[in-house]
Amino acid sequence: MALTQRTRGQRAACRRPTGVLTRGEYVISLMRHGGKNAALFTGFPIILVLLDIPPMLPVLDGVVMELQDCALPLLMEVIPTDKVEVGFKDIDAAILVGSMPRKEGMERKDLLKANVAIFKTQGAALDKFAKKTVKVVVVGNPANTNCLIASKSAPSIPKENFSCLTRLDHNRASSQVAMRCGVSSDKVKNVIIWGNHSSTQYPDVHHAKVTVSGAEKPAYDAVKDEAWLRGDFISTVQLRGAAVIKARKLSSAMSAAKAICDHVRDIWFGTKEGEFISMGVYAAGNSYGIPEDLIYSFPIEIKNQTWKMVDGLPINDFSRGKMDATAAELVEERDTALDFLSQ
Ligand code: LMR
Repeated sequence: MALTQRTRGQRAACRRPTGVLTRGEYVISLMRHGGKNAALFTGFPIILVLLDIPPMLPVLDGVVMELQDCALPLLMEVIPTDKVEVGFKDIDAAILVGSMPRKEGMERKDLLKANVAIFKTQGAALDKFAKKTVKVVVVGNPANTNCLIASKSAPSIPKENFSCLTRLDHNRASSQVAMRCGVSSDKVKNVIIWGNHSSTQYPDVHHAKVTVSGAEKPAYDAVKDEAWLRGDFISTVQLRGAAVIKARKLSSAMSAAKAICDHVRDIWFGTKEGEFISMGVYAAGNSYGIPEDLIYSFPIEIKNQTWKMVDGLPINDFSRGKMDATAAELVEERDTALDFLSQ
């Protein structure tokens, strides 16, 4: 999906997000969340470009009708297309939600081969047609490695403009802690998802805070159950995507769409003072000893549409082991992907 900004009543000066290889269910869910307040993700008028493969165009027509029927005041135009030169032309934001979908029982690694080819093509098309300031958000799995491949295939676009979605995991972790403490999820802040959007990710609450009865406490003190925080909490978040697929026979849609909206809104409007969120970004220059040529999820603050890793958080041995394990999986995924690309 692509967004182009557009002033009311004018065709010039647009912000186009583009949804590349859209998944209808995602788009509808995105509209449900982003479309609230008629702001899509960003708060200004937009053109939405929906890019999909030719056989999906009739389905896309249905999505376009539904979008029109939502009567969203800030949605100026919806352009369905199967052509990258239309889908990516001068876009300001690309939300790459499409990939070969994961089926029950499959690991993301199984998807690598099909998806590196897709994301290489999309990266090259972004390089050719999008604005150099485009913000690219990769959602399709394996999201981190797909994002890395797209970025490597778009050398003229700064690496900082690429990110992958781990906000869904972040929201899942916040929600689990909130439910455990009997508070609403907005009372939990600064959980961290480290690493891969996969079952090796490390949801970490050592730096998280929970507000209970008006008092802000470290999450460990609020939860008062270290065994749960080091055990079931972590595995629940790590395996949540697979659990949703098992139950629905379909990948998450509504929660993923909400997370995409959170992610994009923070890129445009920044994170709250004193709060950080999780986002998969280029690991170059990180202070946590993570190999540099990876897209790895870190704690991130955003101001003026520029993200910054939160550096220098103390890391204990428990966390170190889990951060390294998910990094090792990403190194393996990257090397496999690059291998496929060189064949
Ligand atoms: C999720 O975390 O819900 C999805 O990324 C799962 C998937 O593989 O589609």
